[in-house]
Parts: sequence; structure tokens; C-alpha cells
Amino acid sequence: MSYIKRLDAVMDRSPIMPVLVVEDVATARPIAEALVAGGISTLEVTLRTPAALEVISEMSKVEGALVGAGTVLNPKQMDQAMKAGAKFMVSPGITPALVKEALDRDVPYLPGTANASDIMMGLDLGLRRFKFFPAMTNGGIPALKGLSAVFGSLGVRFCPTGGITEATYKDWLALPTVACVGGSWLTAGNASAEEVAKRTKALGLR
Ligand code: 3PG
Repeated sequence: MSYIKRLDAVMDRSPIMPVLVVEDVATARPIAEALVAGGISTLEVTLRTPAALEVISEMSKVEGALVGAGTVLNPKQMDQAMKAGAKFMVSPGITPALVKEALDRDVPYLPGTANASDIMMGLDLGLRRFKFFPAMTNGGIPALKGLSAVFGSLGVRFCPTGGITEATYKDWLALPTVACVGGSWLTAGNASAEEVAKRTKALGLR
């Protein structure tokens, strides 16, 4: 499968990609199970906690879960995340070093873009799929509509994240260039697995 098709497979797998900040590895599997049971099977584990790499390994054991690493800031972290079992990578921003590493290692990678220049850099480096981050503070849906008017015809697709909630995610998904949305609301507030199950079920995805 081509690189771009594999990225699409990650983005199209579930409409919401939860952005997970997990402190306690013991909660990793139950939370992943709750999300998968509710129809959310693409999980972004941010490298923002000391437990993150272990959490990636644990969540990867959950049947049906596709686990990636988020907040990947440099090639070394990408390497560590791959060794922990992460199957895709997400960054808050874009650097040539990270894009090169992802392409060299053939791992699906969504770099963060906040404006037209970031997207143009990504296009120059050979990418067509981007995170739009932080989505709300960068102008929200009107801003992404503006960027889509320019880049949509080139086949660019986005995963907006940052400030998206249960109340707004469908509005974002209605944009033709939006493949999926990211957000932390399903697990925010150190939610227990039971609470995550409740919030996920309420989305009515299955
Ligand atoms: C992030 O990387 O933190 C995500 O964009 C999540 O943003 P949110 O907490 O506003 O959903």
C-alpha cells in the first residue's frame, strides 16, 4: 500500500482520534478497551508523561486498537515510539528532520500545521496529510475552510485538533477536507475507564 493510502487508513479508521495523556500505565488497557468498545479504535498516546512509551505498549495489546504516538518532537522520540510499538506518529508542528525520518522509516506521520506556510513546507517535503493545530486558536472552522480552498484541490486532508469538543466535532467532520478530528475531551480530567466508556458510548458511534 502506498504511503499516502496507509496514512488515509489511519485517518479514516475512526472519526475521532482521542489525544491521550496517560499518567498511570495501569489505566492504559482499560481506557483503550473502553474506547475501542465505543467505536474509537485509533489512539494517539502523547509522549507527555513518563509512562507514555509503556502506555503505547500496553494499549497495543488491546484487540482492534491502532496505537500511535503524539507530541513527537524529534527523530529520537519517533524511534523510541516505534520501538514501543507505535504504528503512526503525530506532532504539534512540522520539521524537515521529522518528515524525513518518517518517510525513511515508512511510518505514517501527521505533522502539525498552523498556516499556509507550514502546509507548503509539508507539500515540498512530499506530504499531503496534516494535523491542523491548535485548531480553535488558529481561527477554527473558517480558517480551515480558507486553507482548504487553497490546498483542497491538491488532495490535502486534515485532522484538526485543539479546542474541539463533543459539541463541535461534527461541524469539523462536515468539511470535505477533514478526515478525522483529534481531541482530549473523551479522557479529560483524569477520567476513569468507566467514565471514558460512558463518554464514548454517548457519541453513538456503534
Ligand atoms: C493536543 O495535542 O493536546 C490536542 O490537540 C488536544 O487538544 P484539546 O485538549 O484541546 O482537545
